Amino acid sequence: MRYTIDELFGLLEDKGGSRYGGEHLSQLAHALQSAQLAVEAGDPASLVIASLMHDIGHLVGKGDEGLAEKGIDARHETSGALVLEQVFGEAVAAPVRLHVDAKRYLCFAEAGYWDSLSRGSKVSLQVQGGPFNAEEAKAFIELPYATDAVKLRRYDDLAKVKDKQTPALAEFRNWASRLPAHA
Ligand SMILES: [Fe+2]
Repeated sequence: MRYTIDELFGLLEDKGGSRYGGEHLSQLAHALQSAQLAVEAGDPASLVIASLMHDIGHLVGKGDEGLAEKGIDARHETSGALVLEQVFGEAVAAPVRLHVDAKRYLCFAEAGYWDSLSRGSKVSLQVQGGPFNAEEAKAFIELPYATDAVKLRRYDDLAKVKDKQTPALAEFRNWASRLPAHA
């Protein structure tokens, strides 16, 4: 299915109230915190919107809440990137497509990264294939947009703070308008 920008924002608004993975906050709160971190880091609109929409794959289709706990990988990064590619193009879609592999990369590349992951992230890592080995890590970091995906991954990991104040979803609509139209 092809979405418009407004429909994607509507999905976050309407379906984003559900719990985010095994965490203690909603999908929408997690998305807003991720996007806020990208804004604070001075990232371009493409990475701000990628951060906001990085888990949209959980909300398209039937939804996949709880599948990782059951050992099933719904590949939300792939379904999300497919939708985002049509609407925003590759600069938004690629970091989203790669944000799970970025976790697998950081588990290899950075001492202490695995320990820092939340319980939900550790559970999903197992069904996502576990940490990369040296060869996989090298191949990953040479891909286009891999460094954006690593940045997005760090926002994703940090965007799990209960009751944190963020801008409202509507405030990010302008960031989306700044991107070249693909739809
Ligand atoms: Fe996330």
